Amino acid sequence: MLNDISTPLSLLATRRSGKPRDLVAPAPSHDQLVAMIKLAARTPDHGKLAPWRFVIVGDAQRDRLATLLVEAYRNERPAAKQVELDAMAQFARQAPALVVALSSPRTDSHIPLWEQELSAGAACMNLLHAAHAHGFAAGWLTGWPAFSDQVRDAFGAAPERIAGFFFIGTPARALEERPRPDPTSLWSDWRPDLG
Ligand SMILES: Cc1cc2nc3c(=O)[nH]c(=O)nc-3n(C[C@H](O)[C@H](O)[C@H](O)COP(=O)(O)O)c2cc1C
Repeated sequence: MLNDISTPLSLLATRRSGKPRDLVAPAPSHDQLVAMIKLAARTPDHGKLAPWRFVIVGDAQRDRLATLLVEAYRNERPAAKQVELDAMAQFARQAPALVVALSSPRTDSHIPLWEQELSAGAACMNLLHAAHAHGFAAGWLTGWPAFSDQVRDAFGAAPERIAGFFFIGTPARALEERPRPDPTSLWSDWRPDLG
């Protein structure tokens, strides 16, 4: 049992990220990944544009992704050291399951790009919660690969952007809690008359 996910509140209160490099089998099945994506898609979306989508990178495609990242990195940084190229290959091979989330804004819509990107971020957050609800841990990474046009073009096309790589699996060790912001610093009562 990763955490207490027995009630909606405990589910929300216990979700935390897993470090992708520390995620191992058992992994979600393809059907479970599709079920998570279905939950992630239940996201507020001004204009019903669905300005986001998800691409599952199967086991058989991980080596291809590693090759792509190494090639793209080398193309952008011809003087890259081997250790940097190795890091790209390792990035691609982390965790037993991988979903790439794309922000897919509709430029022909009157809905502001900002709102479409907020919706994409919300869908990504929903994916993390969905993974947690299925009993797995997930980690949301961007890093250099998310900002490479060559990598993006392997998954979509401009103006799409990679919103994140979602590595999903089972933590090899208990997840560590990280420092959380002091909740009292995050809210205030609006009192315009006192201004
Ligand atoms: C858009 C986005 C991109 C991120 N990219 C990275 C990354 O490339 N590398 C990294 O170590 N953490 C990255 N993080 C942070 C982790 O996903 C995660 O938020 C953090 O490690 C733990 O937070 P949590 O336990 O509240 O989920 C990113 C977070 C967001 C929202």
